[in-house]
Amino acid sequence: MVSRIRIALDGPAGSGKSTVAKGVAQKLNYIYIDTGAMYRAVTLKALENHIPVDDPEKLTRMVQDTEIDLSYERKGDQSVLHVFLDGRDVSEAIRGLEVTANVSPVAAVAGVRQALVAMQRKMAEKGGVVMDGRDIGTVVLPQAELKVFLTASVAERGRRRWLELREKNIEVDLAEIIEQIEKRDYYDSHREVDPLRRAEDAVLVDTTDMTKEEVIDYIVKLALERGARIETGCSDT
Ligand code: CDP
Repeated sequence: MVSRIRIALDGPAGSGKSTVAKGVAQKLNYIYIDTGAMYRAVTLKALENHIPVDDPEKLTRMVQDTEIDLSYERKGDQSVLHVFLDGRDVSEAIRGLEVTANVSPVAAVAGVRQALVAMQRKMAEKGGVVMDGRDIGTVVLPQAELKVFLTASVAERGRRRWLELREKNIEVDLAEIIEQIEKRDYYDSHREVDPLRRAEDAVLVDTTDMTKEEVIDYIVKLALERGARIETGCSDT
């Protein structure tokens, strides 16, 4: 049994994937790969270059000439993710409302997905990874040793996203956030290429009434059952 397993974490917007993935990676001393950040970086580039988000050919050409790197900075016992787009740190810029509003159509383009999925598979080659997204268990890492599908009620997911934005001093209307999440869920689940769906062998976890610590501990327990060992010593997270 391999000890540096691959953990695929999928689910809709605001289900807690990134917080949980980060926490699980930290406990296991694994690398966390945020694939949503990669789709966001491509979307930012399109917006900056005035490439229409409904032009698949232009977006596909653009992505073929794009470099995305994820790197991790140790801050105390935390590791902070930095996203680089063609060498520039865009970690903050990709979380903006305009990127969020445009990312789903960009992520629906087959050529964009093909390029990013290839990069993601390469990043996971050595194992010891927690990767989160929409199609990780179904398309990117169908052989992952552990697959989890996180959900939560739409009201709870909206509330979490709203709190997150408020912490960053961004004032937004809760009803508007819920509407945007519903729209993104619909788009992500109904696109033709690699839609958001639960892999048959994914463990379903409804996080509506769970704290993030409870979810993290549960997934770490599942990972240990599937052969993961808590790594000590250095890693590149
Ligand atoms: O964190 P949040 O739920 O807001 O979304 P994200 O993980 O940052 O992903 C942003 C968008 O990228 C999603 O709404 C999807 O449209 C797209 N995405 C995707 O299509 N496939 C992935 N593996 C990850 C994200």
